[in-house]
Amino acid sequence: MSTSREILNFNTGWRFIDQDLGEAKKRDFDDSGFEDICLPHSNRTYRHHYFTEERYRFISWYRRPFYLDKAFEGRKIVVEFEGVMTVATVFVNGQVICEHKGGYTGFACDVTHAVTFGGQNVIAVKVDSRCREDVPPEGGNVDYMQFGGIYRDVRMKFLDPLNIRDVFVIPEEIGREAAEIRVEADIENLYESGREFTLYTRIVDQNGNTVSKEQSQSNIAAKSGGKIEVIHHLQNPELWHTSNPYLYTFEVEIVDQGNILDSMADRFGVRKVEFRKDGRFYLNNEPMKLRGLNRHQVFPYLGAAMPDRVQRKDADILKFDLGLNFMRSSHYPPDPSFLDRCDEIGLLVFEEFPGWVFVGDEEWKNVAKQNLREMILRDRNHPSVILWGVRINESFDYHDFYVETNRLAHELDPTRPTGGVRYFVNTEFLEDVFTVNDFEKNREGKLHTPTHVPSLVTECMGHMFPTKSYDREERLIEHAKLHARIQSCQYGISNLAGVCAWCAFDYYTTSVFGAGDHICYHGVCDVFRNPKFAAHFYRSQMDPKISVELFIARYLTPEFNDCGDALTVFSNCDRVDLYVDQQLFDSQAPDTAEYPNLPHPPFTFTGIQASFKDKRPTKEEATYEWNEMAWALGRWLGQMISKIEAVGFIDGKEVVRHSIEMFGRATRVVLEPDDTELFADGTDCTRLVVRVLDEKGQALPLSHTAVSFEISGPGKLIGENPLSVERGMGAVYIGAARNTGGIEVRAMAEGLEGDTTQIRVLEMEKKTVPIKA
Ligand code: GAL
Repeated sequence: MSTSREILNFNTGWRFIDQDLGEAKKRDFDDSGFEDICLPHSNRTYRHHYFTEERYRFISWYRRPFYLDKAFEGRKIVVEFEGVMTVATVFVNGQVICEHKGGYTGFACDVTHAVTFGGQNVIAVKVDSRCREDVPPEGGNVDYMQFGGIYRDVRMKFLDPLNIRDVFVIPEEIGREAAEIRVEADIENLYESGREFTLYTRIVDQNGNTVSKEQSQSNIAAKSGGKIEVIHHLQNPELWHTSNPYLYTFEVEIVDQGNILDSMADRFGVRKVEFRKDGRFYLNNEPMKLRGLNRHQVFPYLGAAMPDRVQRKDADILKFDLGLNFMRSSHYPPDPSFLDRCDEIGLLVFEEFPGWVFVGDEEWKNVAKQNLREMILRDRNHPSVILWGVRINESFDYHDFYVETNRLAHELDPTRPTGGVRYFVNTEFLEDVFTVNDFEKNREGKLHTPTHVPSLVTECMGHMFPTKSYDREERLIEHAKLHARIQSCQYGISNLAGVCAWCAFDYYTTSVFGAGDHICYHGVCDVFRNPKFAAHFYRSQMDPKISVELFIARYLTPEFNDCGDALTVFSNCDRVDLYVDQQLFDSQAPDTAEYPNLPHPPFTFTGIQASFKDKRPTKEEATYEWNEMAWALGRWLGQMISKIEAVGFIDGKEVVRHSIEMFGRATRVVLEPDDTELFADGTDCTRLVVRVLDEKGQALPLSHTAVSFEISGPGKLIGENPLSVERGMGAVYIGAARNTGGIEVRAMAEGLEGDTTQIRVLEMEKKTVPIKA
């Protein structure tokens, strides 16, 4: 067996009980009454709304037997938890190993001295998911659900006693011709004697070519640790950018007399981020307006316990479906796989430590500082992360505490600025960037001009204009237009770095917030990540070279509504022609009067009613005298128009079309899985979007049809069955079992044509820790 590091998946083979059984820590405890589960795991499952936070607030136990081969003897053995909500106490063979407070950051338990080699072991974790007022964010009322369980991945690491504890890669002196990369390796020597070794460090490009390599002779005294610094020089480096998210790999190896004792590799990007005194944000010396949305990590049915695939998909939705260049991880560090994906696709991130409004006593602050440390040490090699949030979101001034959080952030990462999110302007500004929630004038589509530089608006909208996907069309339009006007406003403020509006997805909240069903309908997408009209506005701001967008923000219905005679089209084209029943009605340029500063102002069409005046019934046909108003209100679209089509042009060339038609009858159910392949690891899953369509293929906004599912093969349905759709849409998730094969999902609704979809379950990639010899 090679002595170099090994990392095994430790997500499978767990047993769970939703009770506090203290004896469960013991190695020989009879856990036959426990449920077989895999991680990530939620201590409860839920309907998609109308449940309370009390459901997940309890103590539970997780147990997992494991066998360690004798060959591992002499190695350091660490169990790494990515996130346990909220307080975890870890036992191995009955012995307490560690306690960790805070569900949003990971921790490592050194179990070396508690395990038996060549024999059976048991790890047991007591998970306290109650409202722990000693742990951020709790202490006051919190506007989001925490959920509970071992809800992120767990792995076991086998290391040589001489090993790499951590590597920090710092791109310095970054230019197009050359860059200097400082690699700081933190090495631990657990041997009884001092050790000499060679440290090899390499930088490898995306084609697998080593573009720089260095080696240095070092030694570390017995039972101690030390940092080794190596400088690499890159010629003509490929710079990481939102439009070119180029990732290099760094490799670090400890070699002693030809043997590799330990090695590790990870990715990084060569890029320079600055918030300058002119108020603007610069990426690689070029100014860039940050256009973002906030994201909570919560999902229907499983709370926060979604596997990497679903976490990564959220990053894709933000970047590709919503066209953002920026997001805020409110109000805590996200799953590590989310940030990996942000690195890969070029989505900038403001990451903040856990907390919400409340600040507790000294002990509480110590946990907060520990969580801050864990966040920065975990994430400082991610090129996507551009700013650390070191002030509890919307808290008052706590001078000493925030002096310390700023100091800590700068010490652990001298390369990134800090921000501290506030909603009072007259609060102490201890950070590098003035990050402020600006709600006051949102309903007029406005923001304040910055009071400090550099400034970043970290929230706006949200509770100022909650909007459900199935709200009246007037509200959906107004919601979208307010986002558009606020973003237009920010593009007009040259010394404002950007705006990160509230928020991307509707989210689960506690009893004192939200719409009464424990959802805050503040998203531009619903909890299923299905878009509202406002999502189409964001999407329309994308560079048309990447994706051409066009969306008529309107339904076509016979009945009068309050939408008036104006019609808004979100598009990144430079001209839009509007056809009403095949007849060219009007041709418009972007509406720069209403949205003067946006990269791609929406298009406004007016006067459709007026143009149909000639279709007004004649005096003879009319049963009574029509006045102008009654005609306009009562009869305008419904009986005159059956289709409106928008055609988008760029440089005079037609590039895209979108049409809306008078709604027909409910005809069929369609299924749209995000993925068609999963891994057989017991928790991998994918979203399955469900839509109820009319014969023209339009999702029916007033449909609450109940859709039922049948599933066969190695998988399970995660979600309500039947599911009543909202606005003709909804979603369930399809989870993989531990065996491979084909899953088939069938969806049915009474009187409608159904649909089926297939998902293949493949052998999982990673080796797992054995349960038995
Ligand atoms: C903010 C807060 C967010 C969310 C939002 C609602 O004040 O920071 O977490 O509660 O209000 O729109």
